[in-house]
Amino acid sequence: MILVTGGAGYIGSHCVMALLEKGFEVIIFDNLSTGHIETVQTLQNYGNLRFVQGDLLNQCDLKSLFEQNNIDAVIHFAAFSQVAESVKNPKKYYINNVVGTLNLLNAMLDHNVKNIVFSSTAATYGEPVYTPIDEKHPQNPINPYGQTKLTIEKIMDDYNKAYSLKSVRLRYFNVAGADSKSRIGEWHDPETHLIPNILKSTFSGGKTFQMFGDDYNTKDGTCVRDYINVEDLANAHLLALKYLENGGETNYFNLGTNEGNTVKEVFALCEKVTNREIPIEIKPRRQGDPAVLVADNKKAKEVLGWQPEKTLENSIQSAYDWEKILQNRLK
Ligand code: UFG
Repeated sequence: MILVTGGAGYIGSHCVMALLEKGFEVIIFDNLSTGHIETVQTLQNYGNLRFVQGDLLNQCDLKSLFEQNNIDAVIHFAAFSQVAESVKNPKKYYINNVVGTLNLLNAMLDHNVKNIVFSSTAATYGEPVYTPIDEKHPQNPINPYGQTKLTIEKIMDDYNKAYSLKSVRLRYFNVAGADSKSRIGEWHDPETHLIPNILKSTFSGGKTFQMFGDDYNTKDGTCVRDYINVEDLANAHLLALKYLENGGETNYFNLGTNEGNTVKEVFALCEKVTNREIPIEIKPRRQGDPAVLVADNKKAKEVLGWQPEKTLENSIQSAYDWEKILQNRLK
């Protein structure tokens, strides 16, 4: 059985869907602080899925989770992930992300579970020194969110050396899109990400889309990001699991497409997919946004045999299809 922490959230739920479709038995552990019970209920239609509502900060929850279930490996998503919030309230991030993960790792040791796939981030690299960013790029996070993820990566190195607890750390770039059958999708409140924010402004009552900064040193003045489709990302987790099951050593990989798109390009594609003129307002730069973040994904391709398949337009289309369902649900 595979334990997925944070399986009720955006990326976690897409990974659970991929696991269920491959016939894995899955248990989701989630405190539902940002995840949704409706997402879990949908997932339960697609395979052998147990749900346990619990908190990584609660040792009793963790103890009974591991005692009552035959867990072979862990995929760990549960975390807070808003950069701006982490700057305002670092305590919340260090306690939840770092202490929560330590509790999880210790519970794994207590119950002899030795493999974990961890949801890390491009934010561990900080301001790029060169681009595209490969895994050798220095890791100097510029916000507490990135710092929590880097701290966890370091703890995982120490636990590997001392206790042979094997980890694969997947450093995501900008995750986009939804399930291609529109069963699940991105559902954050508040939403801070580019694509859902552009799409939300096409619905009645939606706010004018705010573009943060058009004076960057890039081809059209807006920030460049590497948008990786959430289903492609989910597949990488399955490959990482297989890598560990086959005796792979502790490792870390970038997950991106090697290609960057500007905010203006994403906006234009959203107008194309939705077939609408979207209201837009140019605002000052958002604090802490690097001009360019693009992944070098060669290592994941070579070692995991991973290959992203979906285009940015595919991601925008699936995000739009899902957003229509979500808007109806929230009416
Ligand atoms: N943007 C807008 N308007 C919006 C939202 C975003 O113009 O309403 C712009 C941002 O300024 C940025 C780009 O769109 O230039 C992408 O912003 P996102 O918030 O979608 O994504 P980020 O690149 O800021 O953040 C993502 C993940 C983080 C992770 C980070 C790594 O969401 O979890 O990449 O740097 F930390």
